Amino acid sequence: MKKENLSPALSSEATSTTTSEDVNANWERVVRRRSFLKGLGIAGATLTAGSLLVPAGLADTRPRKSGSSGKLGKGDVAILKFLAAAELIESDLWTQYAELGGANGGNPAYILALQNLDGDMPQYITDNTDDELSHAAFLNAYLQFRGEQPVSLDAFRTLPSSQATGARQIGRLTNLMNLNVDTSWYTRYRSGQNPDLGAHFKGPVTIVNEPAIPLNDIDTPPNQPQPVPPETPQESRMQAIANTAGFHFAMIEQGGSSLYATLAQQVQDAEVLRIVISIGGVEIDHFGLWHDKAGNAVAQPLAGVTDPETGLTFPDLNNPAKELTQTNKILPEPCSFLSKSFPKCSVIRPTSTTNSGATAAVTGLTSDLLFQGQSSQFFDLVTQLATDADAAQRGF
Ligand SMILES: [Fe+2]
Ligand SMILES: [Fe+2]
Repeated sequence: MKKENLSPALSSEATSTTTSEDVNANWERVVRRRSFLKGLGIAGATLTAGSLLVPAGLADTRPRKSGSSGKLGKGDVAILKFLAAAELIESDLWTQYAELGGANGGNPAYILALQNLDGDMPQYITDNTDDELSHAAFLNAYLQFRGEQPVSLDAFRTLPSSQATGARQIGRLTNLMNLNVDTSWYTRYRSGQNPDLGAHFKGPVTIVNEPAIPLNDIDTPPNQPQPVPPETPQESRMQAIANTAGFHFAMIEQGGSSLYATLAQQVQDAEVLRIVISIGGVEIDHFGLWHDKAGNAVAQPLAGVTDPETGLTFPDLNNPAKELTQTNKILPEPCSFLSKSFPKCSVIRPTSTTNSGATAAVTGLTSDLLFQGQSSQFFDLVTQLATDADAAQRGF
């Protein structure tokens, strides 16, 4: 349900980083904040190879399925490496959102437009960003802990930043300025059908070549008001950009929800399974939140915004309210699962390698145009990481 503008949602936890150094700094901050690795003893340490000591309190002496040496099987390594890459990608895009629209974000009009979806949007963006940074740093630290190489995508931080007030001028992995946002998840989670049993879904809004962050201050002045409904073409433009972000947040996180649930089925090592299902649970938590917020872009009083430059319109999906569109039906509808002969079951879907494995994730993000402008070497690397992860065989 919609929370009306509750607060300016200011916080000291804004995050705006993309380099590995910054990731390290954030990792240390996250450790301090959450204290969940208290005693790890790596204060001041970096994530470079060989720098991470095995802390006595963390050593796991249980027998491992993957071998007496404690080395992980190649399938588990491939899964962890792909997930580390996916989390670096998530971190990059969420950092861009946080710089402009987070709790300490730098673009006031964008923040106001996001707050028309929910007053707490900036805080949620900041916290989601923190979570992704922690996922990436943890997975790379754990790879090193198990004697493996961490994953770095720093060589591909080459894409331009937004020119809008608030965006740092640094190289990016991802492009949020011209997105095709797949909104089929909205219908899928309201449906009793399951893509793993052959169902296909069409989203309620077709978002094509639309920015999800402001492009520059001429297109959307950073200090303009954002009334509901918007009164000027530039206010409509900014609101459409914020609405697009709202749908993109949910698209990204539902993808993560399915990806982790899919790859968990191929893990061998008990501790790796613990990691995959524990991080995956947070992706699901994120998705549930963003599902709710996206619905506010297509509900009164905000519904009806049209981008004057692209013609994209966000309709009122409660007029009339239908099973597959009603905006507050945000909890997953029970659906067919495993076989249509079983009773319907409320589950994350899809969870098959074909539909939601690593390769499917890369394909989905590429179709989203998230990597528009990236080099062929980037695609080669993430495709190889995905292929290796999907090839992992569970051992039980
Ligand atoms: Fe994540
Ligand atoms: Fe995520």
